Amino acid sequence: MEEKIKAIVERYFALSQIEEIKLLGKRVIVVIAVTQDEPEKQKALQAELQQLEGIEKVSVVFTAPKKAQGLRPEIAPWQVNGVKKIIAVASGKGGVGKSTTAVNLTLALANLGLKTAIFDADIYGPSIPTMLGYEGVAPQSEDGKTFEPFDFMGTQSMSIGTLIDKSTPLIWRGAKACGAIEQLLCDTRWQNVDVMVIDMPPGTGDIQITLSQRLHFDGAVIVSTPQDIALIDAVKGVNMFKKVNVPILGIIENMSYYICEKCGHRADIFGHEGARRTAEKLGETFLGEIPLHLDIRENADNGTPIVFAKPESPHTKAYEEIAAKVAKKLGLA
Ligand SMILES: Nc1ncnc2c1ncn2[C@@H]1O[C@H](COP(=O)(O)OP(=O)(O)OP(=O)(O)O)[C@@H](O)[C@H]1O
Ligand SMILES: [Mg+2]
Repeated sequence: MEEKIKAIVERYFALSQIEEIKLLGKRVIVVIAVTQDEPEKQKALQAELQQLEGIEKVSVVFTAPKKAQGLRPEIAPWQVNGVKKIIAVASGKGGVGKSTTAVNLTLALANLGLKTAIFDADIYGPSIPTMLGYEGVAPQSEDGKTFEPFDFMGTQSMSIGTLIDKSTPLIWRGAKACGAIEQLLCDTRWQNVDVMVIDMPPGTGDIQITLSQRLHFDGAVIVSTPQDIALIDAVKGVNMFKKVNVPILGIIENMSYYICEKCGHRADIFGHEGARRTAEKLGETFLGEIPLHLDIRENADNGTPIVFAKPESPHTKAYEEIAAKVAKKLGLA
């Protein structure tokens, strides 16, 4: 069967592009290295494999080509003054709660006594201004050249959203997006930051790869929900950072389970523990799980993230436990 699958895949993609073909019982996972996604071929290959007898589920995923490897040392890294450590909070897939996790993790790191900052690099949907209450506010500049970071209870912050009109996002592509991120990040007057969290754009495309090469990341945290489809993308995220030699700090499972506020019943809506199993399979650290809870959504959307708004809640404790693990891995605790 594996030979048969391989032969089919080879009709669509060159041998050098085929990174992995996995047959796990009734499901097939194919990983292809491409410089640009090729959705037509992806669909066609998926459909053809789907027709094989005994196969129930097929996933064809794209990853960046291997040549990205080893590029990092040759490219001059961006100079971010006033910041000791920089970590990425990333997800392969959009909408998994990356920004919510990034904000609460930053505030939980601050609760440990660290000087923290969060930079919103999500050009596709910057949401940190909403979550930290400065939506629609332009950044201030005292000298006309540099920006003062926004302040949220001591946590410094800046967002690419301050330069993007929310109603017309995604006008920037490639180099232009990266240039804007570099400028805003390097021209902000960060003050003695121990650790800066970067809310990355979702996905593993060119912009994300460039960012992870140009910024000297001390580590990456991958956020995923427990569904298979999100986990496949989480693996892509892990692989992208590994390719450019950024250490993986671990994986967080967000929207892990739901507890009914009325009766206390627990429901594993998206199938609990998938991220833990994926982390184990990859040999990476599982950092912890955050439940799906109305308080987490309402507080994030209202500009008062739960770690700030409800410091004694079990959810805040969960973020703090994750923050403690991250700080330890960074040598900050
Ligand atoms: N654990 C959670 N419990 C309840 N709601 C959550 C949780 N995590 C995130 N959310 C909500 O889910 C929505 C998406 O979350 P968020 O914006 O953080 O995702 P994202 O991965 O950053 O998305 P995008 O890819 O659009 O940037 C938000 O409304 C947020 O409040
Ligand atoms: Mg986001």
